[in-house]
Amino acid sequence: MENLLEKYDIPAPRYTSYPTVPYWEADTLSEKEWTDHVVQVFQRDHHLSLYIHLPFCERLCTYCGCNKHITTNHKVEEPYIEAVLAEWKLYTDRLPGRPVLSELHLGGGTPTFFHPESLRELLESIFATVDIAPEHEFSFEAHPASTTEEHLEVLYELGFRRISIGVQDVDEKILHVIRRYQTIAQVKFVTETARAIGYDSVNFDLIFGLPFQKQEHIIKTMELVGSLMPDRIAFYSYAHVPWLKNGQRAFDENDLPNAVDKRALYELGKDLLEQLGYYDVGMDHFSLEKDALFQSAQTGTLHRNFMGYTPVFTPLTIGLGASAIGDTTSAFAQNLKTVAEYQNTVATGHLPLLRGHILTAEDLKIRQHILNLMCRYQTSWQPGDQRDVILARLAEPVTDGLVEIGPSGVRVTELGKGYLRNICLAFDARYWDKMPSGRVFSQAV
Ligand SMILES: C[S@@+](CC[C@H](N)C(=O)[O-])C[C@H]1O[C@@H](n2cnc3c(N)ncnc32)[C@H](O)[C@@H]1O
Repeated sequence: MENLLEKYDIPAPRYTSYPTVPYWEADTLSEKEWTDHVVQVFQRDHHLSLYIHLPFCERLCTYCGCNKHITTNHKVEEPYIEAVLAEWKLYTDRLPGRPVLSELHLGGGTPTFFHPESLRELLESIFATVDIAPEHEFSFEAHPASTTEEHLEVLYELGFRRISIGVQDVDEKILHVIRRYQTIAQVKFVTETARAIGYDSVNFDLIFGLPFQKQEHIIKTMELVGSLMPDRIAFYSYAHVPWLKNGQRAFDENDLPNAVDKRALYELGKDLLEQLGYYDVGMDHFSLEKDALFQSAQTGTLHRNFMGYTPVFTPLTIGLGASAIGDTTSAFAQNLKTVAEYQNTVATGHLPLLRGHILTAEDLKIRQHILNLMCRYQTSWQPGDQRDVILARLAEPVTDGLVEIGPSGVRVTELGKGYLRNICLAFDARYWDKMPSGRVFSQAV
Protein backbone atom coordinates (compact mmCIF):
# COMPACT_ATOMS: atom_id res chain seq x y z
CA MET A 1 0.00 0.00 0.00
CA GLU A 2 2.79 2.44 0.92
CA ASN A 3 4.45 1.76 -2.43
CA LEU A 4 1.23 2.42 -4.27
CA LEU A 5 0.66 5.68 -2.42
CA GLU A 6 4.15 6.88 -3.19
CA LYS A 7 3.85 5.78 -6.82
CA TYR A 8 0.50 7.41 -7.46
CA ASP A 9 0.98 10.58 -5.42
CA ILE A 10 1.57 12.66 -8.54
CA PRO A 11 0.02 15.97 -9.56
CA ALA A 12 -3.38 15.22 -11.12
CA PRO A 13 -6.63 17.11 -11.77
CA ARG A 14 -9.70 16.67 -9.54
CA TYR A 15 -11.79 16.38 -12.70
CA THR A 16 -14.63 18.71 -11.86
CA SER A 17 -14.58 19.30 -15.64
CA TYR A 18 -13.13 17.83 -18.80
CA PRO A 19 -11.11 19.32 -20.36
CA THR A 20 -9.65 20.63 -17.10
CA VAL A 21 -9.38 24.43 -16.94
CA PRO A 22 -5.61 24.67 -17.75
CA TYR A 23 -6.33 22.84 -21.02
CA TRP A 24 -9.13 25.06 -22.24
CA GLU A 25 -8.22 26.23 -25.69
CA ALA A 26 -9.31 29.85 -25.79
CA ASP A 27 -8.06 32.67 -23.57
CA THR A 28 -11.21 34.40 -24.60
CA LEU A 29 -14.22 32.72 -26.02
CA SER A 30 -16.07 35.41 -27.95
CA GLU A 31 -19.24 36.64 -26.35
CA LYS A 32 -21.13 35.61 -29.45
CA GLU A 33 -19.74 32.06 -29.49
CA TRP A 34 -20.61 31.57 -25.82
CA THR A 35 -24.13 33.00 -26.10
CA ASP A 36 -24.77 30.92 -29.23
CA HIS A 37 -23.98 27.79 -27.19
CA VAL A 38 -26.17 28.99 -24.31
CA VAL A 39 -29.09 29.79 -26.60
CA GLN A 40 -28.74 26.49 -28.47
CA VAL A 41 -29.09 24.34 -25.35
CA PHE A 42 -31.77 26.64 -23.92
CA GLN A 43 -33.87 26.19 -27.06
CA ARG A 44 -33.99 22.45 -26.45
CA ASP A 45 -35.04 22.79 -22.80
CA HIS A 46 -35.73 25.98 -20.87
CA HIS A 47 -34.56 24.50 -17.55
CA LEU A 48 -31.33 25.89 -16.22
CA SER A 49 -29.05 25.82 -13.26
CA LEU A 50 -27.56 29.02 -11.83
CA TYR A 51 -24.30 29.28 -9.92
CA ILE A 52 -23.76 32.65 -8.24
CA HIS A 53 -20.30 33.39 -6.91
CA LEU A 54 -20.28 35.67 -3.87
CA PRO A 55 -16.55 36.24 -3.35
CA PHE A 56 -16.27 38.34 -0.20
CA CYS A 57 -14.82 37.01 3.08
CA GLU A 58 -14.05 39.06 6.17
CA ARG A 59 -10.83 37.14 6.82
CA LEU A 60 -8.46 35.01 4.81
CA CYS A 61 -8.51 31.32 5.74
CA THR A 62 -4.97 30.39 4.69
CA TYR A 63 -5.81 26.89 3.37
CA CYS A 64 -8.45 28.21 0.99
CA GLY A 65 -8.20 27.29 -2.67
CA CYS A 66 -11.27 29.26 -3.76
CA ASN A 67 -11.53 32.62 -5.52
CA LYS A 68 -12.19 35.23 -2.85
CA HIS A 69 -11.86 38.92 -2.02
CA ILE A 70 -11.04 39.80 1.58
CA THR A 71 -12.70 42.88 3.04
CA THR A 72 -14.57 43.96 6.15
CA ASN A 73 -16.28 46.76 4.27
CA HIS A 74 -19.87 45.72 3.66
CA LYS A 75 -20.45 48.64 1.30
CA VAL A 76 -19.15 46.27 -1.40
CA GLU A 77 -22.43 44.30 -1.28
CA GLU A 78 -24.61 46.78 -3.17
CA PRO A 79 -22.42 47.39 -6.27
CA TYR A 80 -21.65 43.68 -6.50
CA ILE A 81 -25.33 42.75 -6.47
CA GLU A 82 -26.01 45.40 -9.12
CA ALA A 83 -23.28 43.86 -11.29
CA VAL A 84 -24.64 40.30 -10.87
CA LEU A 85 -28.13 41.52 -11.79
CA ALA A 86 -26.76 43.42 -14.79
CA GLU A 87 -24.89 40.27 -15.89
CA TRP A 88 -28.07 38.21 -15.52
CA LYS A 89 -29.94 40.77 -17.65
CA LEU A 90 -27.33 40.35 -20.39
CA TYR A 91 -28.33 36.68 -20.46
CA THR A 92 -32.13 37.10 -20.18
CA ASP A 93 -32.09 39.71 -22.96
CA ARG A 94 -30.63 37.04 -25.23
CA LEU A 95 -32.60 33.98 -24.11
CA PRO A 96 -35.54 33.22 -26.42
CA GLY A 97 -38.06 32.49 -23.65
CA ARG A 98 -38.55 32.55 -19.90
CA PRO A 99 -36.05 30.36 -18.05
CA VAL A 100 -37.18 27.63 -15.65
CA LEU A 101 -34.83 27.60 -12.69
CA SER A 102 -34.24 24.07 -11.48
CA GLU A 103 -30.96 24.46 -9.56
CA LEU A 104 -29.39 27.40 -7.75
CA HIS A 105 -26.17 27.38 -5.78
CA LEU A 106 -24.64 30.30 -3.90
CA GLY A 107 -20.91 29.70 -3.59
CA GLY A 108 -17.96 31.65 -2.34
CA GLY A 109 -16.08 33.25 -0.89
CA THR A 110 -18.65 33.49 1.85
CA PRO A 111 -22.25 33.90 0.69
CA THR A 112 -23.23 34.58 4.32
CA PHE A 113 -20.90 37.62 4.28
CA PHE A 114 -23.89 39.34 2.61
CA HIS A 115 -26.66 40.72 4.78
CA PRO A 116 -29.78 38.53 4.49
CA GLU A 117 -31.71 41.47 3.01
CA SER A 118 -29.01 41.93 0.34
CA LEU A 119 -29.39 38.26 -0.58
CA ARG A 120 -33.17 38.72 -0.68
CA GLU A 121 -32.80 41.70 -3.01
CA LEU A 122 -30.50 39.75 -5.34
CA LEU A 123 -32.61 36.60 -5.42
CA GLU A 124 -36.04 38.23 -5.65
CA SER A 125 -34.84 40.27 -8.63
CA ILE A 126 -33.68 37.07 -10.35
CA PHE A 127 -36.84 35.15 -9.42
CA ALA A 128 -38.98 37.91 -11.01
CA THR A 129 -37.50 36.89 -14.38
CA VAL A 130 -37.85 33.08 -14.17
CA ASP A 131 -40.31 30.32 -13.42
CA ILE A 132 -39.15 28.15 -10.56
CA ALA A 133 -39.26 24.42 -11.29
CA PRO A 134 -41.53 22.54 -8.84
CA GLU A 135 -38.68 20.13 -7.98
CA HIS A 136 -36.02 22.81 -7.57
CA GLU A 137 -32.77 22.32 -5.63
CA PHE A 138 -31.48 25.53 -4.04
CA SER A 139 -28.37 25.39 -1.86
CA PHE A 140 -25.79 27.71 -0.34
CA GLU A 141 -22.40 27.61 1.37
CA ALA A 142 -22.59 28.76 4.97
CA HIS A 143 -19.69 29.89 7.13
CA PRO A 144 -20.54 28.87 10.71
CA ALA A 145 -19.20 32.15 12.10
CA SER A 146 -21.29 34.45 9.90
CA THR A 147 -24.54 32.52 9.39
CA THR A 148 -27.37 33.99 11.43
CA GLU A 149 -30.87 32.75 12.09
CA GLU A 150 -32.04 35.57 9.80
CA HIS A 151 -29.89 34.22 6.94
CA LEU A 152 -31.39 30.78 7.42
CA GLU A 153 -34.96 32.11 7.59
CA VAL A 154 -34.69 34.45 4.60
CA LEU A 155 -33.04 31.82 2.39
CA TYR A 156 -35.63 29.21 3.47
CA GLU A 157 -38.43 31.63 2.53
CA LEU A 158 -36.75 32.01 -0.86
CA GLY A 159 -36.88 28.25 -1.47
CA PHE A 160 -33.50 27.01 -0.18
CA ARG A 161 -33.67 23.55 1.38
CA ARG A 162 -29.97 22.57 1.28
CA ILE A 163 -27.16 24.10 3.25
CA SER A 164 -23.46 23.29 3.05
CA ILE A 165 -21.57 24.22 6.20
CA GLY A 166 -17.79 24.83 6.04
CA VAL A 167 -16.59 22.88 9.07
CA GLN A 168 -13.14 21.70 7.80
CA ASP A 169 -11.87 20.51 11.24
CA VAL A 170 -13.07 21.18 14.78
CA ASP A 171 -9.79 21.29 16.67
CA GLU A 172 -8.90 24.79 17.89
CA LYS A 173 -5.18 24.37 17.13
CA ILE A 174 -5.80 23.23 13.56
CA LEU A 175 -8.35 25.98 13.03
CA HIS A 176 -5.78 28.48 14.30
CA VAL A 177 -3.10 27.12 11.95
CA ILE A 178 -5.44 27.59 8.98
CA ARG A 179 -6.68 30.93 10.40
CA ARG A 180 -10.27 29.83 10.39
CA TYR A 181 -12.12 31.38 13.26
CA GLN A 182 -15.24 29.47 14.24
CA THR A 183 -16.42 27.33 17.12
CA ILE A 184 -18.13 23.97 17.55
CA ALA A 185 -21.02 25.87 19.16
CA GLN A 186 -21.47 27.87 15.93
CA VAL A 187 -21.49 24.70 13.80
CA LYS A 188 -24.11 23.22 16.14
CA PHE A 189 -26.18 26.38 16.09
CA VAL A 190 -26.26 26.59 12.28
CA THR A 191 -27.02 22.86 11.88
CA GLU A 192 -29.75 22.75 14.51
CA THR A 193 -31.36 26.04 13.51
CA ALA A 194 -31.40 25.02 9.83
CA ARG A 195 -33.12 21.75 10.75
CA ALA A 196 -35.64 23.48 13.03
CA ILE A 197 -36.52 25.91 10.23
CA GLY A 198 -37.13 22.98 7.86
CA TYR A 199 -34.02 22.56 5.67
CA ASP A 200 -34.03 18.96 4.57
CA SER A 201 -30.37 18.46 3.69
CA VAL A 202 -27.34 19.59 5.67
CA ASN A 203 -23.85 19.03 4.26
CA PHE A 204 -20.57 19.40 6.14
CA ASP A 205 -17.37 20.26 4.25
CA LEU A 206 -14.41 18.59 5.98
CA ILE A 207 -10.75 18.48 4.94
CA PHE A 208 -8.03 15.89 5.58
CA GLY A 209 -4.33 16.58 5.06
CA LEU A 210 -4.18 20.02 6.70
CA PRO A 211 -0.92 21.14 8.38
CA PHE A 212 -0.35 19.44 11.76
CA GLN A 213 -3.56 17.43 11.35
CA LYS A 214 -3.32 14.04 13.07
CA GLN A 215 -5.62 11.05 13.60
CA GLU A 216 -6.84 12.48 16.91
CA HIS A 217 -8.19 15.53 15.02
CA ILE A 218 -10.10 13.37 12.54
CA ILE A 219 -11.58 11.42 15.47
CA LYS A 220 -12.67 14.63 17.18
CA THR A 221 -14.20 16.00 13.97
CA MET A 222 -16.08 12.75 13.34
CA GLU A 223 -17.40 12.86 16.92
CA LEU A 224 -19.09 16.13 16.03
CA VAL A 225 -20.39 14.56 12.81
CA GLY A 226 -21.79 11.68 14.91
CA SER A 227 -23.55 14.06 17.26
CA LEU A 228 -25.15 16.17 14.48
CA MET A 229 -25.50 13.57 11.70
CA PRO A 230 -25.50 15.86 8.64
CA ASP A 231 -27.08 14.22 5.59
CA ARG A 232 -23.99 14.62 3.42
CA ILE A 233 -20.27 14.96 3.93
CA ALA A 234 -17.68 16.30 1.50
CA PHE A 235 -14.41 14.94 2.96
CA TYR A 236 -11.94 16.83 0.77
CA SER A 237 -8.30 16.05 0.27
CA TYR A 238 -6.40 19.25 1.13
CA ALA A 239 -5.23 20.71 -2.22
CA HIS A 240 -1.87 22.40 -1.65
CA VAL A 241 -1.32 24.83 -4.53
CA PRO A 242 0.74 27.70 -3.04
CA TRP A 243 1.85 28.79 -6.52
CA LEU A 244 -1.81 29.70 -7.14
CA LYS A 245 -2.99 30.59 -3.62
CA ASN A 246 -0.73 32.94 -1.71
CA GLY A 247 -2.35 32.24 1.65
CA GLN A 248 -1.01 28.67 1.55
CA ARG A 249 2.55 30.05 1.51
CA ALA A 250 2.02 30.66 5.22
CA PHE A 251 2.39 26.88 5.72
CA ASP A 252 5.72 25.12 6.13
CA GLU A 253 5.48 22.13 3.77
CA ASN A 254 7.25 20.01 6.40
CA ASP A 255 4.16 20.39 8.57
CA LEU A 256 1.91 18.77 5.97
CA PRO A 257 1.32 15.02 6.31
CA ASN A 258 3.15 12.91 3.71
CA ALA A 259 1.14 10.79 1.24
CA VAL A 260 1.04 7.74 3.54
CA ASP A 261 -0.03 9.69 6.63
CA LYS A 262 -2.50 11.73 4.59
CA ARG A 263 -4.15 8.61 3.19
CA ALA A 264 -4.28 7.14 6.72
CA LEU A 265 -6.25 10.24 7.80
CA TYR A 266 -8.69 9.64 4.96
CA GLU A 267 -9.05 5.90 5.71
CA LEU A 268 -9.68 6.62 9.38
CA GLY A 269 -12.29 9.26 8.51
CA LYS A 270 -13.95 6.92 6.01
CA ASP A 271 -14.11 4.06 8.56
CA LEU A 272 -15.61 6.34 11.19
CA LEU A 273 -18.16 7.70 8.71
CA GLU A 274 -19.14 4.18 7.67
CA GLN A 275 -19.56 3.20 11.33
CA LEU A 276 -21.91 6.16 11.67
CA GLY A 277 -24.01 4.89 8.74
CA TYR A 278 -22.65 6.96 5.86
CA TYR A 279 -22.06 5.53 2.37
CA ASP A 280 -19.30 6.37 -0.02
CA VAL A 281 -20.94 8.02 -3.07
CA GLY A 282 -17.99 9.15 -5.16
CA MET A 283 -14.55 10.64 -4.70
CA ASP A 284 -14.40 12.26 -1.23
CA HIS A 285 -18.19 12.31 -0.80
CA PHE A 286 -20.42 10.45 1.65
CA SER A 287 -24.12 10.52 2.40
CA LEU A 288 -26.79 8.91 4.52
CA GLU A 289 -28.97 6.30 2.84
CA LYS A 290 -32.05 8.55 2.84
CA ASP A 291 -30.27 11.40 1.03
CA ALA A 292 -30.82 12.06 -2.69
CA LEU A 293 -27.06 11.83 -3.30
CA PHE A 294 -26.97 8.20 -2.17
CA GLN A 295 -30.19 7.42 -4.07
CA SER A 296 -28.74 8.88 -7.27
CA ALA A 297 -25.51 6.91 -6.82
CA GLN A 298 -27.65 3.76 -6.58
CA THR A 299 -29.76 4.54 -9.64
CA GLY A 300 -26.76 5.64 -11.71
CA THR A 301 -27.88 9.26 -12.13
CA LEU A 302 -25.17 10.84 -9.97
CA HIS A 303 -23.46 13.74 -11.75
CA ARG A 304 -20.29 15.73 -11.14
CA ASN A 305 -19.76 19.40 -11.90
CA PHE A 306 -17.65 22.33 -10.71
CA MET A 307 -19.44 22.31 -7.33
CA GLY A 308 -18.72 18.60 -6.73
CA TYR A 309 -21.36 15.84 -6.89
CA THR A 310 -25.05 16.49 -7.51
CA PRO A 311 -28.05 14.16 -7.83
CA VAL A 312 -29.49 16.14 -10.74
CA PHE A 313 -28.07 16.89 -14.14
CA THR A 314 -29.06 20.12 -15.85
CA PRO A 315 -27.46 20.50 -19.30
CA LEU A 316 -27.23 24.31 -18.97
CA THR A 317 -25.48 26.06 -16.08
CA ILE A 318 -25.02 29.81 -16.14
CA GLY A 319 -22.37 31.14 -13.78
CA LEU A 320 -22.86 34.69 -12.47
CA GLY A 321 -20.31 36.72 -10.53
CA ALA A 322 -16.51 37.03 -10.48
CA SER A 323 -14.73 33.80 -11.56
CA ALA A 324 -18.04 31.88 -11.96
CA ILE A 325 -18.03 29.09 -14.54
CA GLY A 326 -20.87 28.32 -16.94
CA ASP A 327 -21.36 25.03 -18.76
CA THR A 328 -23.60 24.28 -21.74
CA THR A 329 -22.34 20.65 -21.98
CA SER A 330 -20.82 21.64 -25.34
CA ALA A 331 -18.84 24.64 -24.01
CA PHE A 332 -17.46 26.16 -20.80
CA ALA A 333 -16.89 29.81 -19.95
CA GLN A 334 -15.33 31.41 -16.89
CA ASN A 335 -15.80 35.01 -15.76
CA LEU A 336 -13.05 37.48 -14.93
CA LYS A 337 -11.64 36.76 -11.50
CA THR A 338 -11.21 40.05 -9.70
CA VAL A 339 -14.23 41.95 -8.43
CA ALA A 340 -13.01 45.19 -10.06
CA GLU A 341 -12.45 43.65 -13.52
CA TYR A 342 -15.75 41.81 -13.28
CA GLN A 343 -17.79 44.86 -12.27
CA ASN A 344 -16.07 47.18 -14.76
CA THR A 345 -16.69 44.83 -17.69
CA VAL A 346 -20.34 44.24 -16.82
CA ALA A 347 -20.75 48.03 -16.63
CA THR A 348 -19.71 48.28 -20.30
CA GLY A 349 -22.66 46.05 -21.26
CA HIS A 350 -20.53 43.01 -22.10
CA LEU A 351 -20.40 39.55 -20.59
CA PRO A 352 -17.34 39.52 -18.31
CA LEU A 353 -15.68 36.48 -19.89
CA LEU A 354 -12.11 35.55 -19.00
CA ARG A 355 -11.75 32.33 -20.97
CA GLY A 356 -13.68 29.38 -22.27
CA HIS A 357 -13.58 26.24 -24.30
CA ILE A 358 -15.75 24.67 -26.98
CA LEU A 359 -15.68 20.89 -26.64
CA THR A 360 -14.65 18.84 -29.66
CA ALA A 361 -16.36 15.53 -30.41
CA GLU A 362 -13.40 13.79 -28.77
CA ASP A 363 -13.61 16.03 -25.69
CA LEU A 364 -17.29 15.11 -25.31
CA LYS A 365 -16.49 11.41 -25.44
CA ILE A 366 -13.67 11.70 -22.90
CA ARG A 367 -15.79 13.93 -20.68
CA GLN A 368 -18.41 11.16 -20.54
CA HIS A 369 -15.79 8.50 -19.72
CA ILE A 370 -14.41 10.61 -16.88
CA LEU A 371 -17.91 11.32 -15.55
CA ASN A 372 -18.70 7.60 -15.67
CA LEU A 373 -15.54 6.74 -13.74
CA MET A 374 -16.03 9.53 -11.19
CA CYS A 375 -19.74 8.81 -10.62
CA ARG A 376 -20.15 5.08 -11.39
CA TYR A 377 -16.62 3.63 -11.11
CA GLN A 378 -16.86 2.15 -14.60
CA THR A 379 -17.10 3.16 -18.22
CA SER A 380 -17.85 1.39 -21.53
CA TRP A 381 -15.81 1.64 -24.69
CA GLN A 382 -17.27 3.84 -27.40
CA PRO A 383 -16.66 3.69 -31.15
CA GLY A 384 -13.56 5.70 -32.04
CA ASP A 385 -11.97 5.48 -28.57
CA GLN A 386 -8.17 5.40 -28.65
CA ARG A 387 -8.43 2.06 -26.88
CA ASP A 388 -4.84 0.91 -27.37
CA VAL A 389 -3.43 4.18 -26.10
CA ILE A 390 -5.70 4.19 -23.04
CA LEU A 391 -4.95 0.52 -22.30
CA ALA A 392 -1.21 1.18 -22.49
CA ARG A 393 -1.59 3.99 -19.93
CA LEU A 394 -3.69 1.70 -17.73
CA ALA A 395 -1.21 -1.19 -17.83
CA GLU A 396 0.38 -0.28 -14.50
CA PRO A 397 -2.91 0.44 -12.69
CA VAL A 398 -4.14 -2.96 -13.94
CA THR A 399 -1.03 -4.74 -12.58
CA ASP A 400 -1.49 -2.86 -9.30
CA GLY A 401 -5.10 -4.08 -9.04
CA LEU A 402 -6.71 -0.64 -9.39
CA VAL A 403 -8.76 -1.36 -12.51
CA GLU A 404 -10.08 -4.36 -14.41
CA ILE A 405 -10.39 -4.38 -18.16
CA GLY A 406 -13.30 -6.27 -19.70
CA PRO A 407 -14.43 -6.70 -23.30
CA SER A 408 -16.91 -3.84 -22.98
CA GLY A 409 -15.01 -1.42 -20.81
CA VAL A 410 -13.08 -0.52 -17.66
CA ARG A 411 -14.11 -1.09 -14.05
CA VAL A 412 -12.50 0.49 -10.99
CA THR A 413 -11.79 -2.03 -8.21
CA GLU A 414 -12.43 -1.37 -4.50
CA LEU A 415 -8.70 -0.59 -4.11
CA GLY A 416 -8.79 1.60 -7.22
CA LYS A 417 -11.49 3.87 -5.71
CA GLY A 418 -8.68 5.53 -3.76
CA TYR A 419 -6.83 6.32 -7.02
CA LEU A 420 -9.69 7.64 -9.14
CA ARG A 421 -7.80 10.77 -10.23
CA ASN A 422 -4.92 8.63 -11.52
CA ILE A 423 -7.28 6.30 -13.39
CA CYS A 424 -9.10 9.21 -15.06
CA LEU A 425 -5.72 10.61 -16.10
CA ALA A 426 -5.32 7.63 -18.46
CA PHE A 427 -8.32 8.94 -20.46
CA ASP A 428 -7.18 12.57 -20.41
CA ALA A 429 -5.90 12.94 -24.01
CA ARG A 430 -5.23 16.67 -23.62
CA TYR A 431 -2.93 16.07 -20.65
CA TRP A 432 -0.84 13.49 -22.53
CA ASP A 433 -0.69 15.66 -25.68
CA LYS A 434 0.84 18.48 -23.68
CA MET A 435 2.11 17.45 -20.28
CA PRO A 436 2.44 20.40 -17.87
CA SER A 437 5.96 21.76 -17.55
CA GLY A 438 5.43 23.61 -14.26
CA ARG A 439 3.24 23.04 -11.21
CA VAL A 440 -0.42 23.03 -12.27
CA PHE A 441 -2.37 20.43 -10.29
CA SER A 442 -2.45 19.41 -6.63
CA GLN A 443 -1.16 15.96 -5.59
CA ALA A 444 -3.50 13.02 -6.28
CA VAL A 445 -3.38 11.57 -2.73
C1 LIG B 1 -15.79 27.37 -2.14
S1 LIG B 1 -15.29 26.96 -0.52
C2 LIG B 1 -16.30 28.17 0.30
C3 LIG B 1 -16.71 27.86 1.70
C4 LIG B 1 -17.11 29.06 2.53
N1 LIG B 1 -16.32 30.21 2.19
C5 LIG B 1 -16.80 28.78 4.00
O1 LIG B 1 -15.75 29.24 4.40
O2 LIG B 1 -17.57 28.16 4.69
C6 LIG B 1 -16.04 25.42 -0.39
C7 LIG B 1 -15.21 24.37 0.25
O3 LIG B 1 -14.05 24.07 -0.47
C8 LIG B 1 -13.15 23.38 0.39
N2 LIG B 1 -11.78 23.87 0.17
C9 LIG B 1 -11.35 25.14 0.10
N3 LIG B 1 -10.02 25.19 -0.08
C10 LIG B 1 -9.58 23.90 -0.15
C11 LIG B 1 -8.31 23.30 -0.36
N4 LIG B 1 -7.21 24.02 -0.51
N5 LIG B 1 -8.25 21.95 -0.38
C12 LIG B 1 -9.37 21.20 -0.23
N6 LIG B 1 -10.59 21.72 -0.04
C13 LIG B 1 -10.71 23.05 -0.01
C14 LIG B 1 -13.58 23.69 1.81
O4 LIG B 1 -14.01 22.50 2.44
C15 LIG B 1 -14.71 24.68 1.63
O5 LIG B 1 -15.71 24.56 2.60
